[in-house]
This record gives sequence, C-alpha cells and structure tokens, in this order.
Amino acid sequence: GNPTARLMCIGEGPGATEDETGRPFVGAAGQLLDQILGAIDCPRESVFIANIVKCRPPQNRKPLPDEATMCLPYLHRQIALVRPTVLLAMGGTAAEWLLGVKRSLGDLRNQVHRYAGIPLVVTYHPAALLRNPNWKKPTWDDVRAAEAKQLAADGYEPVLKHSRWCLLKRPENLTDNQTVKLSELLKYNLRSLRA
Ligand code: URA
Repeated sequence: GNPTARLMCIGEGPGATEDETGRPFVGAAGQLLDQILGAIDCPRESVFIANIVKCRPPQNRKPLPDEATMCLPYLHRQIALVRPTVLLAMGGTAAEWLLGVKRSLGDLRNQVHRYAGIPLVVTYHPAALLRNPNWKKPTWDDVRAAEAKQLAADGYEPVLKHSRWCLLKRPENLTDNQTVKLSELLKYNLRSLRA
C-alpha cells in the first residue's frame, strides 16, 4: 500500500490469489474494490489496503479468534505508521476486530466510529457484493461518507450534489462536530470569495 495514504481499507484476509501473489485484493473482489474506490476518484495506488489476518485460513474460512489476535499487532503497527485520515472496515471481520465489538454490519454502518482517534467507517466486504449486488448502492454511500470525513479533516464541508461532493470551506471557529446550515456555509464561502 501507499505509505502516505489518507484512506486505509481493511479486509479480512488474503484469498488464494492474494496468498500466491502476496498482494491484497487482486482477485474478483479486488476488481470490485477498484470500482468502489473509483466512486470517490481514489485510485488504488493512493490508498493503503490491509487485512486482519496475513495468511489465508484453510478452506477460506473466517479467521478464528486466536488467528486474528496473533495478526492484530501487525495491523495496529501498519495503522500507526501510515496514520491515515480515515479507515474503511470492509466486512464484519474487519469491523469486529478493529472496534472490539461483535455486532451486525447493519448495526455498525451509517455511523462514524473511531479507532485510536481515527474516524472509521464500516461497510460491506467486496466479496459479499459479488454475492449480493443489492449491497452495492449502500457501499457506495459508505465510501462517500468516508470521503466526507477525509475532506472534513482538510477543513471542508462536503455537500452532496448529484452524487458528487461540492467542497465548501468550513468557518475556522467551528469544531469538528459542530454542524452548520447550508445557507450559512454558502454565505461564508461567498464572503471569503469576495474578500
Ligand atoms: N478478501 C480479503 O478480505 N482480503 C483480500 O486481500 C482479498 C480478499
């Protein structure tokens, strides 16, 4: 992955192709991940892709707790070194081990969590989308939410228009969590354009 990435995507563990090549998300799920990242104009080279476990458990099964626990320090160190602005946990395994909770994906989506102070968005695993294409739209919404967090870190208030973000500068005296009316934001941006 890109060591200066602002977005870090975390999956479950390598599949057969990934184990052979030593690269994450290079199979069918990887192609879909490229499309998902395309929705926010984020080429794969600009992000860091990691997994909860670093080798594929036999028969592609879900990692067991001791396997995940064994690999987690490596992932924690990867996150600490890359220091991304936002984390995208893809699938239940990533969400469960990063957040230390056992809750359904439905429960964990649509809110911004924190991992070591870094905003963390939970979404479906790309392999799950291959099985259930109905989850594509919600996944695209989730990556846009992750993108919005990244933009907010740069001092912008992203406003969604026709599925694309418009960037409005946030007044500097606002804290991260404070919301501001769109009309006020527009006035503030117009005033700074005129200044
Ligand atoms: N699925 C994952 O969770 N990770 C990969 O790297 C590939 C497929």
